[in-house]
Amino acid sequence: MVNPARRPLPATGRSSAPNSRRGPNLALGLLGAALGAAATAWLAERRSGARQAAFHPGRRAGLERLRLPSSPALLDGTPRRRLRTSGNLARAQTIADLRAMAHARLPSFALEYLEGGSEEEAALARNLDAFAQWHFAPPVLVDVSQRDVSSELFDAPMSMPIVIAPTGLNALFWPHADTALAQAAADAGIPCAQSTMSNDRMEDVGRTPGLRHWWQLYVFGPPSVSEALIARADAAGCEALIVTTGAQIYGNREWDRRNRVPSGNLDWSSEVDALLHPRWLASTILEHGMPRFENVLDYVPTDKRSFFDSAFWIRSQMDQALSWRTIARIREAWPHKLLVKGLLGPGDAVRAVAAGVDALILSNHGGRQLDWSASALDLLPATRQAVGNAFPLLVDGGVRRGTDIVKALALGADAVLIGRAALYGVAAGGRDGVGRALDILRDELQRDLGLLGARSIAELGPHLLRPANRDAGEA
Ligand SMILES: Cc1cc2nc3c(=O)[nH]c(=O)nc-3n(C[C@H](O)[C@H](O)[C@H](O)COP(=O)(O)O)c2cc1C
Repeated sequence: MVNPARRPLPATGRSSAPNSRRGPNLALGLLGAALGAAATAWLAERRSGARQAAFHPGRRAGLERLRLPSSPALLDGTPRRRLRTSGNLARAQTIADLRAMAHARLPSFALEYLEGGSEEEAALARNLDAFAQWHFAPPVLVDVSQRDVSSELFDAPMSMPIVIAPTGLNALFWPHADTALAQAAADAGIPCAQSTMSNDRMEDVGRTPGLRHWWQLYVFGPPSVSEALIARADAAGCEALIVTTGAQIYGNREWDRRNRVPSGNLDWSSEVDALLHPRWLASTILEHGMPRFENVLDYVPTDKRSFFDSAFWIRSQMDQALSWRTIARIREAWPHKLLVKGLLGPGDAVRAVAAGVDALILSNHGGRQLDWSASALDLLPATRQAVGNAFPLLVDGGVRRGTDIVKALALGADAVLIGRAALYGVAAGGRDGVGRALDILRDELQRDLGLLGARSIAELGPHLLRPANRDAGEA
């Protein structure tokens, strides 16, 4: 393989030197890139060291799961276990393999955006740990030769109870990633939610054959912006509108900021690191330019439409007065299914039902907003009890396995949303990568259902679970 550090740096606006100076400039560039590579590696080493060494109560177990878990099967590091990092999607056994592939392909600043949480990342860790609080206690000798993982939401079938979560800036991971996610969801027979901060136009995504298209709304700017987006979502044939709450004030993602200079642009070490990921660079920014927030750029002042400026401007325009009154206004304007995302407890859930919302998504935004938030799973049983059995409840945060999905369903969810699990897939291999992620989850779900002695999603319930902290011997 050609050492990317030996390649000439691509032309930038700054490299306007005359031809006669190209030789020395090139040599300097190469030297710079090599030094940059060494510095980046050193910085990355220090950064991960610092992260591991930091004291993070409550997050250690989560990080263990984010890395390769330690296992009683290992003795002094043998057998040697490694996740798959090649681009061969067929060899990915788990979402963790797709994650490793994504890590091999993406530069550090993009990974930070994808993976990171806010502040101590305690909420991020809790999303993963919460699943570990439940163990299975399945019945045996149940005929599970016929199993069905399909379910229904809003009177329409889903091949499995999974929805692709809305995520912004997906073009950073793969060209036209929003379309890739939508296509894979349509192939798999599940809904896909598209973010206000997505990069493909909603009208284009909406043309995906067979797609159950949901639109996620961030309320920002004057009411005319939401009104226009709602009208467009209706015209684009969206089945559902998700209003995201709890994100009007941008979460404190310090690790993300550490990759930037004060103006918001990447710092030099992140730029060099990006250059050292030529596969990613060529397929995304070199071929397609910087991502654009195609669905909202028209509402951004013309002098703020560059990538970073538009992102920061929209962030500054988020409606911090967002309230139940706004939900009532949106309810009147939107004639189809309305979901509220980002609430976490029975009180708000009951209020949302009274406000005429059709379904709720319990979520702490993947641990990216208020740190130390409880996970959706923590509050699911109480919320289910508060809204009754018939009201559609969805949850997200930390879903990486079939067993995670089964636990959420057993505790009362109608479906789960997957954020990073789908993004690992798209970053590893576009539409095929997402397809692989969904195949993996479907296979796991099928198997887990059978191992749990259940033949259908409807047979899952709390009777199959046992709190992990119950004393041994207690029934
Ligand atoms: C990279 C990234 C971008 C996200 N962007 C949005 C967004 O634009 N709108 C939104 O409502 N939620 C957004 N989320 C939150 C997800 O919708 C979802 O709540 C979260 O990812 C679930 O946790 P998980 O990643 O552990 O599955 C984003 C999450 C990630 C990881």
